[in-house]
Amino acid sequence: MNPADYVTLPIFAETGYVILDAYDQAADPREWEDITYVDWKSSGDTRFAPLASAYGDLECNGFWNHTPAKTDKDGVWVEENVAVAPRLVARAQEPGANIGRCRVIELQPNTYGEALYNLHRDDNNRLNPEGTGWIVRAVFNLTDDPDTFMVLREDRDDPTTETRIPLPAGTQAIIDTQRLWHAVWHPGPEPRYCLITSWESGPELDAYITAKHGVDRVDPVAVDPALLAEGEEVARAKREARAAALAARGADPTFGDGSLSAGPAMEVYSEA
Ligand SMILES: [Fe+2]
Repeated sequence: MNPADYVTLPIFAETGYVILDAYDQAADPREWEDITYVDWKSSGDTRFAPLASAYGDLECNGFWNHTPAKTDKDGVWVEENVAVAPRLVARAQEPGANIGRCRVIELQPNTYGEALYNLHRDDNNRLNPEGTGWIVRAVFNLTDDPDTFMVLREDRDDPTTETRIPLPAGTQAIIDTQRLWHAVWHPGPEPRYCLITSWESGPELDAYITAKHGVDRVDPVAVDPALLAEGEEVARAKREARAAALAARGADPTFGDGSLSAGPAMEVYSEA
């Protein structure tokens, strides 16, 4: 699968992400407190509340895992959540781009090392027909988490490729999450909530990014080097432990290209 076979937007070419004007989140009701979340993985670190799912059910599986399977487009609104979250839906619809998965994520506090362990790439463009728009994902932070960062890496194992996007309330980013390894480092203490929407690249999204003054850079954020080194070690140790556990069960401990598994299955952390 090669993005060159799809409609892509030039502003993503260099860095793989775009930051839009900040949104006045404080002016909106806290709709994410009224919608219904579903348990999607057992550890309890994350929950999701679908606004649009593959066929309108209150579930968060990848569209390609349904019967019939579909690519991450033409999401069907989940009535019971849409009814109590009109502002969130309106924000997802504002560009006029095709919408696939649209959901709110609830993320419990974690450490930098755990975030690095959770680094993954999304499978947004599975089954996406060549010649159509490449799927990218909007990340709109809802709660005010000024000490929280979206961690992006071009190369999962190369810290020098890391970008940290701060996530105060109203942060609006659009990320090629199939290209960039990503996860969120959320110190807490309260859960973080974020609206995530799959959008199809095309003229509608292009015009929206222009109107919101999208830029493909953030100012570098300095973090204590000792903390960064500790995080690398924590993530490495967790990956090794997981690989050993898989090997003991006779499972293949490699992950596609032969690297150690990123951790739990891709879709488990597909939101971050
Ligand atoms: Fe993801």
